[in-house]
Amino acid sequence: MSSTPSLFTDVELAAPVVIFQLTADYKADPSDKKINLGVGAYRTDEGQPWVLPVVRSVEAQMAIDPLLNHEYLPILGMPSFCEAATQLVLGKDSPAILQNRAGGVQSISGTGALRLAAEFLFRFYNKREKSTAVYVSSPTWGNQTAVFKNAGFTDHRTYRYWDADQCALDYKGMLEDIENAPEFSIFILHGCAHNPTGLDPSHEEWIGIAEACKRRNIFPVLDCAYQGFASGDPDVDAWSTRKFVELGFELLVCQSFAKNFGLYNERIGNLCLVMRDSPTLSRCRSQVELIVRAMYSNPPNHGARIVATTLSNPALKQEWLDNLHTMASRIKAMRHLLHSKLRSKGTPGNWDHIITQIGMFSYTGLNASQVEFLRKRHIYLLSSGRINMCGITTSNIDYLVESIHDAVTSVKGGRL
Ligand SMILES: Cc1ncc(COP(=O)(O)O)c(C=O)c1O
Repeated sequence: MSSTPSLFTDVELAAPVVIFQLTADYKADPSDKKINLGVGAYRTDEGQPWVLPVVRSVEAQMAIDPLLNHEYLPILGMPSFCEAATQLVLGKDSPAILQNRAGGVQSISGTGALRLAAEFLFRFYNKREKSTAVYVSSPTWGNQTAVFKNAGFTDHRTYRYWDADQCALDYKGMLEDIENAPEFSIFILHGCAHNPTGLDPSHEEWIGIAEACKRRNIFPVLDCAYQGFASGDPDVDAWSTRKFVELGFELLVCQSFAKNFGLYNERIGNLCLVMRDSPTLSRCRSQVELIVRAMYSNPPNHGARIVATTLSNPALKQEWLDNLHTMASRIKAMRHLLHSKLRSKGTPGNWDHIITQIGMFSYTGLNASQVEFLRKRHIYLLSSGRINMCGITTSNIDYLVESIHDAVTSVKGGRL
């Protein structure tokens, strides 16, 4: 080893990414009682990851298809995938698609779609105004702000969303924050299954939100990482996105196929651009093409092929919808079981939010000290009290309920 000091001696050790650290701690815990409520992925009732049967069968076909090879994809991705993904979120009869002013760009999952959106907006949105404010919900999935920071945005703000006292949407606060935002601000909205709260606005509330955004000339970015995962029906979960399109917004939608296809490590997503007209779409896509070229050149094939094949074949699509239904139903069943068991045990607090929330995550209302208490019982969750419903199984729920009951009754404070 050379005696010359490294050129990187001043580099500080970065803090670990909390959610990955939580999973590492869980894995290292030898207890047979341990429960991981932190992980952001689906688990079966046996606590195992699930490869969707439709994905298995499409992969089996792909493995023997002599026409497939490992050639590069186009920079903007596999055209049949981009088309299928765009149709999935906007609806195949969407006027924006029929008018040829909506189109997709294959991305490195949902995070990659956000990264492309951020880079594109930083370069081309409101060009003379680099200080455009970027709003995220309070709370939100933390990577949204990190991604927009990395693209160069400097004015990061939050809009009110979660009312901790009521365990409900702070609709009034959210509207006030939109009305008070600088004109032309960028708002990142969760299209469905809000992460981390699991709380979505009603249709009526969405209309109010969209109208307020219209009045302030807000640019919406719809982060749609859970389409189909919330209700079990991708059309139902795309309602808010389609409403914004119907109201005439130009917007970006960031889609992920990590959750709804269980393709977490294939990193398959789509950035859907909805523009005023077809020439604008072509110009914007051509600029995203340059961004991709210099960022990672072109995207991977495997996940795109699976999604495109499935969505373009009616029988496979039906099988996927059935698989989606299986996942969404298990999540809903766990919500109801947790709610009823906490109620019948007489655990202090109103637990109704557990069943009114939607999707994989739930903001339980447990405070950081109660989370710490649970940790001593080998139950792993974020200090915010967010849990992933998929970590709950029919075998571990009784231990979980007993532990939550003990946490709430012995560690006071907070809402409960
Ligand atoms: C709100 C939200 N957006 C985007 C993503 C991106 O996920 P991925 O990059 O795995 O598709 C996630 C994942 O947890 C999320 O919760």
